[in-house]
Formats: sequence, C-alpha cells, structure tokens
Amino acid sequence: MIGTITQSGVDAGFTWLIKPLLDKGFIAKDQTFIHWLPLGIILAFILRGGAGFMSNYFMAWTGRNVVMRFRQDIFAHLLRLPATFYDNTTSGQLLSAIIYNVDQVAKASSDAIVIVVQESFFIAGLIVVMMLTSWKLSLLFLVTTPVIAVIARRSSLRMRRLSKSVQFSMGDITQVAEESIEGYKVIRTFGGQQYETDKFNDLTVKNRFRELKIIATNILASSSVQLVAGCVISLTIYLTTLKSAHITAGGFTSMIAAMLALLKPMRNLTNVNNTIQKGIAAAESIFLLLDQPPEKDEGTTQLTRVKGAIEYQQVNFSYNSDKKILHDISFKAEPGQTIALVGRSGSGKSTLVNLLPRFYDGYSGRILVDGIDTHTIRLEDLRKQLAFVSQQVTLFNDTIAHNIAYGRFAQASEAEIIRAAEAAHAMEFIKELPDGLQTLVGENGVLLSGGQRQRIAIARALLKNSPILILDEATSALDTEAERHIQEALDSLMHNRTTLVIAHRLSTIENAHTILVMDNGRIVESGSHAQLLAHDGYYAKLYRMQFKELATA
Ligand SMILES: Nc1ncnc2c1ncn2[C@@H]1O[C@H](COP(=O)(O)OP(=O)(O)OP(=O)(O)O)[C@@H](O)[C@H]1O
Ligand SMILES: [Mg+2]
Repeated sequence: MIGTITQSGVDAGFTWLIKPLLDKGFIAKDQTFIHWLPLGIILAFILRGGAGFMSNYFMAWTGRNVVMRFRQDIFAHLLRLPATFYDNTTSGQLLSAIIYNVDQVAKASSDAIVIVVQESFFIAGLIVVMMLTSWKLSLLFLVTTPVIAVIARRSSLRMRRLSKSVQFSMGDITQVAEESIEGYKVIRTFGGQQYETDKFNDLTVKNRFRELKIIATNILASSSVQLVAGCVISLTIYLTTLKSAHITAGGFTSMIAAMLALLKPMRNLTNVNNTIQKGIAAAESIFLLLDQPPEKDEGTTQLTRVKGAIEYQQVNFSYNSDKKILHDISFKAEPGQTIALVGRSGSGKSTLVNLLPRFYDGYSGRILVDGIDTHTIRLEDLRKQLAFVSQQVTLFNDTIAHNIAYGRFAQASEAEIIRAAEAAHAMEFIKELPDGLQTLVGENGVLLSGGQRQRIAIARALLKNSPILILDEATSALDTEAERHIQEALDSLMHNRTTLVIAHRLSTIENAHTILVMDNGRIVESGSHAQLLAHDGYYAKLYRMQFKELATA
C-alpha cells in the first residue's frame, strides 16, 4: 500500500508540476527553480521505481499466497469430504476449482488490487491537483460519479453471472479432457473420436462465447465511462473559455492535463472490474466447496486394535431416499471368521460392506465392531481396524514398494514389504521387473497386468495387518494359474482375520464360516456351504450352474 500510494503520488505530482513549470519556469524564468528541477525529477523517478517494486512485488506475494492457501485448503478439505459428495460431483469440476478458480481469485486479489489502489490514489491525486487549480471546475467531475456508479454496478452483476458460466465450462472442458485421456482405448476401439471431438469442440466454443461476452460487457462499460468523462472535459473547456473564468495559462493547462490524465486510470479501473468480478465469482464457488460439510466424525471412543467381532443389527440403507438398497440386514461374525457374500450383481453386496468403514452414513439400525457402535468410534481409529481390497484396485503413480507400504512408509521396513509381497505371491513377478520393488507402476498401475495389480493390493492389505479385512473381489477372468496365485494370496491374507468377502467364484468361499446369500438388498439365505447345498435354494442353484460351467470349460 505504501509503495502503491507513493507511486501514484509521484505520478500525480508530475501533473501538478506543469503549473510551476509554465508559470515559474517559462513565464517568470525563476533560475533556482529551473536548475533544481532536473535533479528533482531524477529523485522522483528513483522514488517511483523503488515504490513500484515494493507495490508490485508485495501484491504479487499476497496473490500467490492466496493461491497457495486456497489450493492447500481445498485439497485438505477434499480429503475429508464424504463419499456422497464424490458420487455427485465430477472430478473435472473439482480439478478446475483447484486450478482455474483459484487463479481467478489470485488475479483479483493481487493484480487487480494493485491497479485499484494505484489508480484510485492517482485519481485522488489528480483531483487534488484540479482542486488546487480551480475547485469550481473540479466540482464538475463529481457530477459524473453517480453515472459511473450505475454503469459499474450493472456491468459488474452481468460479469459475475457470466464468470460463473465460464467456470462451469472450464470444469466441463477439464472433465471431457480427463475422461478422454483416461478412456483413450475405449474411444479408439468403439470409434468415439468424432463424438468426443464434437463434444470437446462444442464446450470450447461455448467457453469462448462466454469469455467474449464478458469482454464485450467490459469494453462497453469502459467506453461509456470514457464518454461521460469526455463530456465533462469538453464542458470544462467551454466554461474556462468564458470571459468570467479567472484562470492562468499554467492553471488551465494543468487542469486540462489532469483531466486528460484522468482518462487512463478511469479506463484501467473499469477494465480491472472484469478481473475483480471473475475473482468474486470464483471465490463464491470456492467457498461453496469449502463449506461442504466434511464426513461426520463425532465418535470419541479410541481404539488401538480390536479383536474383530462384527455385527450388523437390522440395517436399512438407501443412497437417496427414493429407493431402499438394504433391507433389515442382520448378521454376526466372531473374531477370525470369514463371512462370504454372494448374490446377483446389484443386490447390494458392495453397499453392505461400504457401511462398515462408514463411507456412507444415514443408515438405520446398528453396526458394531467388538460390540461397540461404529458411530461412537473415532473415524480414524475405526478405519485403522480395516483393510480394504476393493473391486477396482487403486495404485498410485509411484514405486511398487511405496504402493505396498502406502500410508505407512515410516513404519514399514524393506524386509516387511518383501514379506508382504511374498505372501501375496507378488514377489514372483516383482523380481522379474527391471527395478524390482523400485519399479514405477504408472498411473493407476497401467504398467502392470490386472492380476499383478490385484496382488499388489493384497500385499498392501497384508502389510497393514489389520484385524478386519474387506474383500470386494473383482470378477475379472483370470487364467487358472493366476487365479491359483491370487487364491493362495487371499488365503494367507484371510488367515487369522475377520473377513467380509464378496465372491463371484463360489469355489473361493467353500470354507467360509457363513455364507450370506443376497437378493434385492435382503439376506435370503445364510449358512455354511454344506448347509446351503442341503437347503437346495438359490445358493445351490448358483453353485450347480458354476460347477457345470467349470465342467464344460
Ligand atoms: N454411489 C451410489 N449411489 C447411488 N446408488 C448406488 C451407488 N452405488 C450403488 N448404487 C445402487 O445400489 C444398488 C446395489 O449396488 P451394489 O454396488 O451394492 O451392488 P453389488 O451387489 O455390489 O453388485 P456387483 O456384484 O455388480 O458388484 C445398485 O442398484 C446400484 O445401482
Ligand atoms: Mg459390488
């Protein structure tokens, strides 16, 4: 602020200088004044340079800090938002919030503020100069204020509305780009190039159109303001040329110079309004995101390591109120037991297991771990008790070792990582890789095969060594060799742990203590493999069907 004000002060001072320059220098020929003037100008420029550096650097510092803090805050907040939030938001909109919106705020809070402060003070300085010269004429300028205010207000509202739509289109562009980059194989094999290109081009055209609308609004506002100012200048000239006006030649020149000098800061101010409105619109969206309630974590019970008893009591659940997904789910698992879930696709198996780590809330009934209601346990402590191997394996663009030791780099030694990898039957292929455990796996593990990825995920769960294990088994068809490897890996993983396993291949769960058969969100049968076969119901039918497939294969 000090730098900016100084700089504007010096600039306004130069306009003021015109009066003594003409009146004292040229007309009165004041020798001392003429001699000292050049030195004074040099000093003024040195002052102006220093002040300019100060103002620009520190304002940029502020702006960059705004960007950094916003990005960090948004990111930290994203890690706390509930699963329902992610179900209903596209990653493109979120990415563009972190990248695009934040930058708009930064521009408004640094570049724009520099201009606003600088130009406002410059204008104030010029008005002082005008006042000193002729306060009556200067008052004319005040007449313009309400007119300019109306123009500024109307254009601001419009620009803010348009900026919102630009933000959305940036999110859409990011989304389509991201999907197309990730899904490039599907796009090529299914001939989606034209469709995606059209979709993308359409969005970029829309984006350009909206940006241009903002710019047009801006130009209109800025030229209207200039027009108003121009009228005042011409009026001033008309009035000063009237006989009654008492003003010196220097005073008149200084006055007109000040008025003409006013045009540029006025234009800059109206132009920068564009940036400010974009910044405000972006800030609104960012705060909307930051105001999203995080996952509920009201439990206070602290747990170190549970034994692993799990109990569901009459659990009912729906994602959105209209359709109930789980009906009256009740079952019990003693520590170390394996509970298998089988049933048709879409019957609610994944949903059921997702409630245990409290990815979704808002179910009725109770879920207990070691007899404690999971709602009363601290979220972090609850999740510490579980390892999750899900239907879609998530690997990070990092080394195999870091993927296995994910979240516990500090605790896991290389020997432990190797032990986990061996138990997961992953070491066999890791050894063949050029850099072994230090091999980079690429984004989401693209450089590995599906079965290899799964074994890494199993090794990760093994290393976590938690008392409860949730396995949401992928349906991916693996060859018998790989399947045997994975089965062995899973067996060592399930050993000594309470396991909830969702299985599509029934051969994998014959030894489970209890098999729950689900249909349409209900448990329709339960019992051991032998009991269910004897019962001769849905499970027996399913088993015979798979058995036949195996026999004919
Ligand atoms: N995030 C979600 N939001 C809304 N509805 C969902 C969501 N996830 C799943 N559903 C719905 O809930 C029902 C049960 O889905 P769920 O994923 O639990 O099935 P599943 O038994 O695991 O199936 P599969 O064997 O194919 O994995 C489905 O009808 C599905 O459409
Ligand atoms: Mg599922």
